[in-house]
Amino acid sequence: MIVLGVETSCDDTAAAVLENGRVVRANLVSSQDAVHAPYGGIVPEMASRQHIHAIQPMVDKALTEAGVAAADLDGLAVTCGPGLTGSLLVGLSFVKAWSFRSGIPYVGVNHLEAHVMSIFLEREVSFPYLALVASGGHTLLYLVRSFGDYEHLGGTLDDAAGEAYDKVAKMMGLGFPGGRVIDDLAKQGDPRAVAFPRARLRTPYDFSFSGLKTSVWHYLTRKRKDDWRDDMADIAASFQEAVVDMLIAPTLRAVEDTGIRRIVLGGGVSANSRLRGKMTEKVQEAGAELHYPSLRFCTDNGAMVALVGSHRLGEGDRDGPRLNADPALTL
Ligand code: KG4
Ligand code: ZN
Repeated sequence: MIVLGVETSCDDTAAAVLENGRVVRANLVSSQDAVHAPYGGIVPEMASRQHIHAIQPMVDKALTEAGVAAADLDGLAVTCGPGLTGSLLVGLSFVKAWSFRSGIPYVGVNHLEAHVMSIFLEREVSFPYLALVASGGHTLLYLVRSFGDYEHLGGTLDDAAGEAYDKVAKMMGLGFPGGRVIDDLAKQGDPRAVAFPRARLRTPYDFSFSGLKTSVWHYLTRKRKDDWRDDMADIAASFQEAVVDMLIAPTLRAVEDTGIRRIVLGGGVSANSRLRGKMTEKVQEAGAELHYPSLRFCTDNGAMVALVGSHRLGEGDRDGPRLNADPALTL
């Protein structure tokens, strides 16, 4: 079965071709970073306009790279939520129209489910497992019993982890998006240089990053700019260490409480080198195993959408013309 996966939930236009639910024949992403960078964050209206320009060329390119003719596709999969409404509508309308015109079946895919399952693009993981999804819009912890059976354990009470990275990068004048830049800068810094706080919550599997963000802001404003300019790497490393600690603690608590010894990461922040490194150490100490996707499957991509779509289409699922984009879709 050959499935086209389309992802336009946020600011990247992505298209991929997946064969038999596992062979990635093409996986292309057209980044909008340069468009949004001057504003220090995503401008939703501009994001949807960019998707309109990019979607057809991206799909054409993906099919060419995969060596697949449009008529050879067995199914189409597209993100239908959660995300920015305008952005979601571009991908969904495109795929719906294609399905209607060609008669090729399509399914709408939950973006969070795609991140939770993205590991299967590269390896089989036994069920059950704990999935930590950390991205620009979400920070969530799930217990995954099987494909389609997800229990929500916890999530962020305020900012997402990636959002904290992006906002702190903006405060420090490091550009947008901030995750990669802070990750790189932190490699030259001392993570113990500044004692930023770790949020302590009453609910064991939840996360909170806005206090940390405010704390970085206070630190920067308290010190004169000339003073902290020299310490950029230390500040980045200290901030990052706090984020990483706050992602690890609830996840390990869930390992302890559930007895499930497999953890899977997904979402843009799971590309973070310190999170991968420190989580590997801590997970090993806890006698558990950690799986994370390659960088190209951590950040938003069409292959993970095609993966979930292939599974659903294979089970006979079909969506019709009435399916709508749901910006607040949950899993
Ligand atoms: O999953 P994703 O591509 O899009 C959403 O669904 O939001 O995640 C994007 C987020 C951004 O906030 C970005 O700053 C963050 O992932 N990110 C990182 C890294 N690479 C991307 N955060 C920390 N370290 C990284 N290396
Ligand atoms: Zn995402």
